[in-house]
Amino acid sequence: MARILVTGGLGYIGSHTVVELIQSGYEVVIVDNLSNSEVNVLDGIESITGVRPAFEKIDICDKSAFQACFSKHGSIDAVIHFAAYKAVGESIEKSLDYYYNNVYGLLQLLSSMRANGVKHLIFSSSCTVYGQPDKLPIDETAPRKPATSPYGNTKQMCEDIIRDAIVSYHDFTAILLRYFNPIGAHPSAKIGELPKGVPNNLVPFVTQTAAGIRKELSVFGDDYNTPDGSAIRDYIYVVDLAKAHVKAMQRLLAGSNKSELEIFNLGTGKGVSVLELVHSFMAATGVKVPYKIVGRRAGDTEEVWADSSLAEKELGWTARTPLNEVLLSAWNWEKKVRGIKE
Ligand code: NAD
Ligand code: WQD
Repeated sequence: MARILVTGGLGYIGSHTVVELIQSGYEVVIVDNLSNSEVNVLDGIESITGVRPAFEKIDICDKSAFQACFSKHGSIDAVIHFAAYKAVGESIEKSLDYYYNNVYGLLQLLSSMRANGVKHLIFSSSCTVYGQPDKLPIDETAPRKPATSPYGNTKQMCEDIIRDAIVSYHDFTAILLRYFNPIGAHPSAKIGELPKGVPNNLVPFVTQTAAGIRKELSVFGDDYNTPDGSAIRDYIYVVDLAKAHVKAMQRLLAGSNKSELEIFNLGTGKGVSVLELVHSFMAATGVKVPYKIVGRRAGDTEEVWADSSLAEKELGWTARTPLNEVLLSAWNWEKKVRGIKE
């Protein structure tokens, strides 16, 4: 049984991926400093899988603690690296924190991997590296545009650091997964997204509005050059996304990767507008979401959606879950968190 170290494994995407890894027969060691997660996520993982994975409360920037963790858990076969700060707006206010955590954290990880002979890495990248694309859908050959936020810059820098590390050190292979917009929660409603404070992202804001925590949703702009005027994104179900990590892991461990560094877009290939998403949520759940149209949000792009055909061809992966099911999972999770009975 391969042993996988998952940094940030109690976070939103990490926890769903840990579930899929365990259900696919991997042994998992989670490293998380709980800066954006709760330790009881472990209970949710255990309740779904019947397995309580090893957990180390460690900051990956803490070199000696991280090194000790590698020593303690013996031979680690591969790492999936989720741990990072991820709020675009916050990264503009706290840029140094973002560079420290995301870039220095990766450097610590790579040197610990080298010191312990761990040769395979899956890295959480983002569609943000593409910026406003020149053509749609976006495939992996699209140029990376200058980052519009420190967060986006950390993702570009981390991609470059991994690329350079592969050139420097032999026998090191990595897969960069560029996620589009992950949404939804596990169908069991035992794990899901736990945004702190007022959510920046659309779906948590929609579910909190439906739950009555927020008075109304602000739809940022209806004057885009799109069919209904609202902005278009590619919303990918977090469980589908998690399954792609398992496929990528199988590929790295089997050595069936075609080059030392591979990059895959993970999206549905379908663009959905903000208004479409809100109306789909109301139709799927039967719950009203009051909303008003306001001005565009600074820094937003008009339309983004993925060409994920490379992931389909090489990983044998596609996003399968229909949007209504995904939105219902997000609502079931919100109800669970808020203790809302039907
Ligand atoms: P998240 O905040 O829910 O999870 C990240 C986890 O990492 C948290 O549990 C946090 O406590 C932990 N962490 C952060 N810094 C750490 C450190 N220094 N040491 C140890 N643990 C640390 O975020 P998520 O949505 O699950 O995102 C996971 C990854 O995917 C991130 O790298 C993020 O940038 C990337 N990503 C996310 C999205 C998205 O919209 N959610 C989109 C594209 C890419
Ligand atoms: C989606 C759409 C908003 C909230 C972000 C990061 C990106 C990646 C994914 C990490 C946009 C609109 C939103 C609201 C709204 N993350 N919206 N009212 O901005 O596409 O991408 O998450 O790598 O880097 O930037 O996601 O969910 O914030 O917004 O109208 O209250 O919903 O304008 O069109 P975004 P989002």
